[in-house]
Order: sequence, then structure tokens, then C-alpha cells
Amino acid sequence: MKLWSGRLSGSMDETFARLNNSLPFDRRLAQVDVLGSIAWAKALVEPGVLTPEEAAAIVNGLQSILEDFKSGKEPFVESDEDIHTAVERLLSERIGSLAGKLHTGRSRNDQVATDFRLWLMDALPHLAVLLLELQATLIARAEQDRGILLPGYTHFQQAQPILLSHWWLAHFWALQRDRERLAEALRRTRKMPLGSGALAGTAYPIDRFALAQDLGFDAPSPNSLDAVSDRDFAAEVLFWAALTGVHMSRLAEALILYTTAEFGFLSLADAFSTGSSLMPQKKNPDPLELVRSKSGLLIGRLTGLLAMLKGLPSAYDKDLQDDKPPVFEAVDLLELLLPVMSGLISTLTVYPERTRAAIGWPVMATDLADYLVGRGVPFRQAHTAVAQAVSRAEALGINLPDLPLGEWQKIHLAFGEDLFAVFDPERAVRRRSAYGGTAPQAVEEQIRLAKMTLEGPRERG
Ligand code: ARG
Repeated sequence: MKLWSGRLSGSMDETFARLNNSLPFDRRLAQVDVLGSIAWAKALVEPGVLTPEEAAAIVNGLQSILEDFKSGKEPFVESDEDIHTAVERLLSERIGSLAGKLHTGRSRNDQVATDFRLWLMDALPHLAVLLLELQATLIARAEQDRGILLPGYTHFQQAQPILLSHWWLAHFWALQRDRERLAEALRRTRKMPLGSGALAGTAYPIDRFALAQDLGFDAPSPNSLDAVSDRDFAAEVLFWAALTGVHMSRLAEALILYTTAEFGFLSLADAFSTGSSLMPQKKNPDPLELVRSKSGLLIGRLTGLLAMLKGLPSAYDKDLQDDKPPVFEAVDLLELLLPVMSGLISTLTVYPERTRAAIGWPVMATDLADYLVGRGVPFRQAHTAVAQAVSRAEALGINLPDLPLGEWQKIHLAFGEDLFAVFDPERAVRRRSAYGGTAPQAVEEQIRLAKMTLEGPRERG
């Protein structure tokens, strides 16, 4: 059965049929498609399209189909063009020709846009929970790893010492923005296209506000043309997925480096490692590498959808059928990546003596410049003086703290005996106590703030 077979004669080309058939992926909309139809059948009573008895019979039939879908039974056949066709066929098999009244005033164009949004309204809150769990893991790490120092890097060169807790929390805040973006995307997804018809609206006086409420939407869409063509919500979800992937990938990249023999800052639990089939000694960070690669694939899904959308001239075009696979795949990927990252981070081991020992003396240079500033030297001059001391020590082949006071004073007379007290990474960290800095007390404040953020109002499902 084709829903549109009245117009054409003969049968469809077999290869085209395979290209046209979206059931292999839109079967994931099965349950929401039935829910949308149940609400539509009820809405058709008020304008007199269905009698209450007819609506009840249709709803009953749809309920039995829904039960089948819920119990994993999906009695689809080869000729079902898409999920909407399949549900209508099943309904007519169960209740006869009355099924033919259900599609009155409705088009698959408003139907599929509604289904897709309903599906995301179900899926996104779960992703928000997984994201929140990863954030909670990072906070737990920040608490557990209190007091551990490591070199902070810019340009991947040692820059200034920082607290490991501060480093974990840096990744927390990126994910917090992701969670806010997800909530925003969900808010815009909760607009109902149903009742927009094919493009011009429905000719039956449906109460779309009541219908929207019935289906759990915030409001009906205000423009039927826009409603059937709008896939912004899908693009936003893919952007969210891509950026969340990028955030996890950057974290993964750093963790991979920190597990190398050269760094030795941390090691992954065996449950999150693999071995090599050839080299017996190997312990590989595969999950992190897969997070890094999948995040690239997520970017591809976003750019693919945007490229698909950019040339579409009006309301619905069949291109729009292809909006679903990238979104389904992105959701599936995130459902996997987020818990893997949580598990991996909560079980890894940190080696504080290694992170501490990695801090090179030159990272104290900023603090030495600040030391001169404390003695009235303008920062620019202080910067030059310390740079000269670093070069001098390098030329003499000694560590910066071993440069004799005489050498320092040859560079600048404001250097005094107490400059050597500056060579203390703990002190350097403690000094960065302004809001948002790496000082222990500022980080404690940050942990409190992070926890409050997690306890904030949850996005409703
Ligand atoms: N399977 C189609 C899709 O996913 C349903 C809408 C079909 N509409 C149409 N006018 N052919 O987009």
C-alpha cells in the first residue's frame, strides 16, 4: 500500500523503492508516531470529522499497535514506505476502513516533524542526565585530588603551576555550557508542527493549543510553512553533540598524553584499557582515542545536515527525510561516550609525586617578576630582568634557583636574598586567590559553585 498510489500507475522501480524507503531508520519513531496519531484522532472529534465512537475505535486500534511496539513486536512488511505508512497499514488491518479517516487534515509533512520532535523530547533529557553525571564525576575528582600540583601549560609549554582540581573543573565548566545549550535546544524543540498540514495549515478547526498540550509540547508552531520546513532543532542538537564531543575530545587528548611514560601523571584502570596483540607490555588508552575520533564524526553529522538544508527552497522537500539518521547516530554516540568518560575518569589513578616533580623551575618566572613588582619595579622591566636571569642560568647550565645572588643583582639591583623564597610552587598557587584562580581557597569556592550549579533547576522532560 502506498499512501499516494491513486495518482500513479504501475509499480515503483525496485531500486528507487529502496532509496525512497525510510523505514530502516524512521522505525525508531514508531511509538511517538502512534502517540501523535492518538492525539490527532481525539482532536478530530471537536470539528466533527470523527464521532466520539469512531475516535474511540481508532484510538483503541492505535493502542494495540502501541502495545506491540512497546513489547518489541514490529510487524512491518517490505512495502511499508515509512513509519507513517506502516502504522496506517497496521491500523487498517486491525479496524478496517475507518482507519482511512485518521489522516484527515493532516500530512506526513507535519506528522514527521512532530514525531521527530517528540522523539527528541524523550531522548534529550536522558542525555542531560548523562552529561550531569560526567560533570559530577569531575567535581568528585576535583575533591579527591585536592592539593595536587601539576604544571599548567600554554602552547603546551610549561607556564605556571596549577592545582589538579582546578584543571578538572576547567572541563566541568565547558560541560556546564553544553548542558545549558542542550536545555535551550530542548526548549526550541517543544514547538508542535502538527496541524500545519502539508504546508498551508489544516482546513479543520482543530484546537492546536489543546493538541500541543495533550502531546507535551509548550506551544503550537505559529506558521505552517515554517513548521514543516524547520529543522533548526535538529541542527542545534547536532551542534550541541559536536561541541560536547569536542570538549570530551580535548580532555581525552590531554589524558592520553598524561598517561604516557614521558609524563606518567596518571594511569587508566584496566577496565578502560586495552592491550596489544603483539607487544606484551602495552596498555593502551583506546576509549580516549575513540572519544577523540567519534567527536570528529559528530562534527561530520552537523556539517552534513547543514549542507543538506542549505538549498531547500520551500516548506517540505524530500531531502528532509534524511535529517533523522545523523541525529539518531549522534544521540546513540553520546549515550555511549558520556558514561565511558565518567567511568574512565572516576577510576583512573593520579601520581601526585610525578605531577609535582614535573614542575620545572622556569615556571616560577612570573612570580619572580611579581617579586620585583613588589619592590616597586614596573612590570615590563621586571619581566625583562627575569627573562635575562633565565637566559643566564641556561647559559651557565644551572637551574634557576642555583643562580647566585650576585648574578641576579648584576641584572637588577632590586633582587634581594629573599628572592629564593619565591621558588615554591605551592606559594605560587596560593597567590592566585582572586575569584576564578587556582589558589586552594578559590578552588574550594569553585567546587561549591559547581555543586550548586548541578543542583540548580533540572530541565523538565
Ligand atoms: N518519510 C518522510 C520523511 O521522513 C515522511 C514525509 C513524507 N512527505 C512527503 N511529502 N513525501 O520525511
